[in-house]
Amino acid sequence: MYFEDNRNDTLQKKFGILGKSAGVQSMLETIEQVAPTDISVLIAGESGSGKELVALALHKHSRRAHKPFIIVNCGAIPAGIIESELFGHKKGAFTGAQSDRKGYFQSADGGTIFLDEIGETPLETQVKLLRVLEQGEFLPVGSSNMMKVDVRIVAASNRNLEKEVDTGTFRKDLFYRLKAITLVVPNLRDRKEDIPVLAKKFANDCAIRNQIIFKGFSEGAFQIMSHHRWPGNIRELKNFIESLVILEKGGVIKTDIVYRYLNAESSPTEYNPLLPVKLDRNVEQAERELILQQLFMLRREISEMKEIIVKGLQVRPTGDDSPEEYSPALEVLPNDGVQDISDDESSPILNPQMMGTLTAAQVEKELILRSLQRFNFNKRKTAQALQMAERTLYRKIKEYGIAKED
Ligand SMILES: Nc1ncnc2c1ncn2[C@@H]1O[C@H](COP(=O)(O)OP(=O)(O)OP(=O)(O)O)[C@@H](O)[C@H]1O
Ligand SMILES: [Mg+2]
Repeated sequence: MYFEDNRNDTLQKKFGILGKSAGVQSMLETIEQVAPTDISVLIAGESGSGKELVALALHKHSRRAHKPFIIVNCGAIPAGIIESELFGHKKGAFTGAQSDRKGYFQSADGGTIFLDEIGETPLETQVKLLRVLEQGEFLPVGSSNMMKVDVRIVAASNRNLEKEVDTGTFRKDLFYRLKAITLVVPNLRDRKEDIPVLAKKFANDCAIRNQIIFKGFSEGAFQIMSHHRWPGNIRELKNFIESLVILEKGGVIKTDIVYRYLNAESSPTEYNPLLPVKLDRNVEQAERELILQQLFMLRREISEMKEIIVKGLQVRPTGDDSPEEYSPALEVLPNDGVQDISDDESSPILNPQMMGTLTAAQVEKELILRSLQRFNFNKRKTAQALQMAERTLYRKIKEYGIAKED
């Protein structure tokens, strides 16, 4: 036992990955085995669970450590340019290609490329990725000369790629090639025993960085934390601890403080008090409920949009029309404190004078903006709620020129 603890401590320090839970221990052992090799690795885990940290550990403990580590977020690159971004292009390959351009694979030569959200890559590009994995070669866009590179591929996904293969959105051959070495990063809620060590580390780091005195946590504080679901995993815990340390500077962080902050945080129940997600739900049930909540919210927003359009296009005889007149959804759903957008005169789209000129695009822009605001500009969650590919969301944000301050 003592030997095992020692070994676990050594591996945690070596890779900068904390945790004593069985899931983390077995992950650390696999990292130790595969890091020094050139084998490609697939990292599976929920958002914020530590996939990038694992990818970096693999790179840092390989012979490639002093060569580039290139991170590519496949979900954020528009489908039309992903091949040119990954493999580069020749001058004149397409309109706007004014000179030859190096792709990420060339930039990573000798090092490691981290293909984050690989499940988001278009099927055509997946064929090319398989070729790089198998032969280490690719064709830059518009070129007829194969290019060879020495790059180790580490990929990650927070989606279930096996399901994507079943639905035909991920290539089977690429999946089997990648999955030979799969590192599963456990969810925080499945390794609650790791919360104290992580919380202490984040709190101490934050205190040192901000020159704040931090006196520690009470035992009860950890107990409260262990009852939270942590849908944002370690990233959520880290942000939570940092805000506690900063806002409560100087004192011991006790049960009541943690309880107060966790309840004040964006808990799932915040969105619709009629549909609380209880702590005793299993992950699948809770997720289903969360999706349901979001659908309710979006349905109401769509009704509100419709209401604005109807109002805008109507010639109103008097000014005494109430919102309820136009929105059947408002009769069945309670007001949960969401601002009534028909009151908002600051937004040009919603300005009553302009309502008659609303276009479908403007309605869509507004819907996207409101969903982004609801999810704190988290693109992945927004895309999921709108049932839209993340890439499409990025494109629309660009197209409509949506900015955080809108
Ligand atoms: N085991 C761990 N020990 C210490 N810090 C960790 C651990 N796992 C994750 N972190 C920290 O948590 C944060 C989130 O981790 P990371 O960015 O690697 O997650 P991710 O799985 O890539 O998230 P996403 O899916 O959103 O891209 C980072 O600040 C990272 O350093
Ligand atoms: Mg990541």
